[in-house]
Amino acid sequence: MGHRSKELVHLGFIGAGNIGKVHMEAFQALQGVELTAVTDAIRPLAEASQKQFNILRVYDTAAELLKDSSMDAVVIGVPNHLHAPLAVAALEAGKNVLLEKPMALDAGEAKAIVRAERESGKRLMMGHQMRWSSPAMEVKRQVDAGSLGRIYTAKAGWIRRKGIPGWGTWFTRKGEAGGGPLIDIGVHMLDLALFLMGNPKPVSVVGVTYAEFGPDRKGIGSWGKPNWDGYFDVEDLATALIKMEDGSSLTLEVSWAVHAQTDSLPFVQLMGRDAGVSLRGEEGIFHAEMFGKSVDVPMFLAEPEGADRMRLSEHFLDCVREGREPVSSALSGLTNQLILDAIYESSKTGRQIELDWSL
Ligand SMILES: NC(=O)c1ccc[n+]([C@@H]2O[C@H](COP(=O)([O-])OP(=O)(O)OC[C@H]3O[C@@H](n4cnc5c(N)ncnc54)[C@H](O)[C@@H]3O)[C@@H](O)[C@H]2O)c1
Repeated sequence: MGHRSKELVHLGFIGAGNIGKVHMEAFQALQGVELTAVTDAIRPLAEASQKQFNILRVYDTAAELLKDSSMDAVVIGVPNHLHAPLAVAALEAGKNVLLEKPMALDAGEAKAIVRAERESGKRLMMGHQMRWSSPAMEVKRQVDAGSLGRIYTAKAGWIRRKGIPGWGTWFTRKGEAGGGPLIDIGVHMLDLALFLMGNPKPVSVVGVTYAEFGPDRKGIGSWGKPNWDGYFDVEDLATALIKMEDGSSLTLEVSWAVHAQTDSLPFVQLMGRDAGVSLRGEEGIFHAEMFGKSVDVPMFLAEPEGADRMRLSEHFLDCVREGREPVSSALSGLTNQLILDAIYESSKTGRQIELDWSL
């Protein structure tokens, strides 16, 4: 039998900012996909990326792009407050969607996306590339094989010492971003930890958030350009305890800015009855006990930068071609969003919050 080439996916891009271009670069390097169209609120950005990535057409607005019936799927990489309206519009227009994180501003919006996906019969995938790093994939294989035994607790986080992105831009404005580091980097760690734990069902959350640097214009990082005429009304540190239906638990700690010793790397630790694992940045170590002694087994899985994003992009294309549910599904996006909402609610009320799964 000859090798059948993969069915061509026609892909559009809504948003040609930082992450939009990262997606374009990844898809451009893959087979079986045509970069069909691009739009950005700032038209010159769309035109520049059309040139850079050989995209066929530029549209003035997302609404016009979504009317193009030659497209099967779109990548949405716009500020967070536009995720829900654009994802719902894309699904209603019959497009599959690769949506950047966080899913939406809040769980109400995330539920609207889940309903729209169900009604459309199309697929929506969340852009959580960390699930696709080699160490994360190796951990997932070991968890699925039962090597860790029952995972009863886990710890995940990302503690940046000086990393507030784009102070004063949409990144630090609650109405457009939905929140601070919890929404920006915490959602990646939450997503990864739940995935590696085997997707236990979260039921309740206690959390606290703080804003100790941002309001004083301290802790500024290098992602995005500050707008000193803007403002900061999100948190810059958050800590939370998430309890699952099966009795397991997860602690999450994130900061954009803090006075503390930190390597500023994202981390997940899984603690199982038979073995544990620590992921930190690109490195991973398995922990166990043998012959009465503690043993550590490092993972050596170095790979070129961006390999995780290539796998994510390939998986999205496969899901579009086969109508398959992506691993980072719409439901997993909603799960993360319910937890994020509950952390803010718990911080405001001082109470433990039970998650509301009703659609
Ligand atoms: N997965 C990751 O690691 C990762 C990394 C960075 C950002 N993100 C996410 O990607 C999203 C975008 O972040 P960014 O850093 O690229 O921001 P950005 O500000 O660089 O880019 C957003 C782009 O969207 C455009 N835009 C705004 N409204 C639009 C509209 N109605 N139609 C079309 N385009 C519109 C803007 O002009 C801008 O060019 C955010 O949700 C962010 O959380 C994810």
